[in-house]
Amino acid sequence: MRNQKSMDLYARACELIPGGTQLLSRRPSKFAYGVSPVYAATAKGARFTDIEGREYIDWVSGIGAIILGYADPVVDEAVREQISRGTMYSINHELEVELAEHLIETIPCAEMVRYAKGGGDACAVAVRIARGATGRDKILFSGYHGWHDWYLAANLRADESLDQHLFPGIDPTGVPKCLEGTAIPFPYGDAAALADLLEQHRGEVAAIMMEPLRSEWPPEGYLAEVRKIASDAGVVLIFDEVSTGFRFSPGGVQPVLGVEPDMAVFAKSISNGYPMGAVVGRREVMEPASTMFISSTYWSDTIGLRAALTTLREVRRRNVPEQLDHLGKTLQSQLNAVAQETGVPVQCGGVSVHPQLAFDIEDGTLKRKVSTLYIQEMAKRGCHGYTSFYLNAAQGDAEVEQTIAAARDTFTLIQDGLDRGNIDDLLECELKVDVFRRLVS
Ligand SMILES: Cc1ncc(COP(=O)(O)O)c(C=O)c1O
Repeated sequence: MRNQKSMDLYARACELIPGGTQLLSRRPSKFAYGVSPVYAATAKGARFTDIEGREYIDWVSGIGAIILGYADPVVDEAVREQISRGTMYSINHELEVELAEHLIETIPCAEMVRYAKGGGDACAVAVRIARGATGRDKILFSGYHGWHDWYLAANLRADESLDQHLFPGIDPTGVPKCLEGTAIPFPYGDAAALADLLEQHRGEVAAIMMEPLRSEWPPEGYLAEVRKIASDAGVVLIFDEVSTGFRFSPGGVQPVLGVEPDMAVFAKSISNGYPMGAVVGRREVMEPASTMFISSTYWSDTIGLRAALTTLREVRRRNVPEQLDHLGKTLQSQLNAVAQETGVPVQCGGVSVHPQLAFDIEDGTLKRKVSTLYIQEMAKRGCHGYTSFYLNAAQGDAEVEQTIAAARDTFTLIQDGLDRGNIDDLLECELKVDVFRRLVS
């Protein structure tokens, strides 16, 4: 097997670690099983080397956590300097205030700030604050918001009408059944459906929690309508910006969308790979948190704070959103040109900072096989990723050039397989499994 060392290690992991990995998106079955890299050894800039000694361009960017590039010299130097002064103390550190000031200056809805250590963690804090501030329990949501009980409670009620909102493979095992009915999904893009749902639960809803967008721009006027619906009902509107992060602007996606939520949640790209999360919001909604029990030892560790402050300053100083927009558009147009050249039924679309390949193949099984074959062949040519691309600022011309050359070979092979009807023979791995599906994509 191509990745024998990694697969042996993964077999050991599965014996010792339930599920094998800590994050579902890192399961080898999400990629080309046995062909794609599984365990990293080192990473620098746009690339990593796995434990087999092979180098890859990383188009997953640490599942979105890396925005400047791996081992960014400025962020890492700031962190190293911080380490030399101690990383956490028995008392507080002024970085907490400095970072809060930066977030308040750059993010439109931010007037007060709380911290956390990750995305799901920060979403749970936001939900607690919204519930506490309103005295209501129910949460309407759209999108992916982490692993906590408040969110997975949605899957306790699994009737057919909710099928499109469920995450296949994610069972709410271990989530208290008494939470049934407290988290209710709504379909993205349909303001009338949201208004109906709110009417059905009139007076019981604390918050509307949503990813404002993921891979496509929202329908015209949709988010403004959501804003109005939330305001009219006195419900807290929370944007989960964990995935969009700071790729659209140094102030998150809000300034670009022109719609201000009451609260917003950030993690991942806020700190270029160091554990960190933040919940920001209007004073009126955030202030009640001062009397709620929301407290944890590591939320104010100075590594996360220093990494976040430095990353966000660098995002602004280096004009990273503009750079990523240009990179994404280049990738999209060149991939589309290669698709045309080779005849493969695929389009690269999505927002520029998160390009997505969509294979236009009706047969669902064949489409999965082709997607997996794409991941497999790209991996063999040193490009690690899904059929979508998370961008970071260390990716540049060399990465685009190598990726387009790999895509040309891969698309040619796929088209040949489609013409001959022998895609199965070309697969060297088990079929990629979609462990879960997000609500908005
Ligand atoms: C929109 C969104 N919210 C929350 C999370 C959860 O973040 P974490 O994995 O850091 O807990 C994710 C992770 O992918 C996400 O994309």
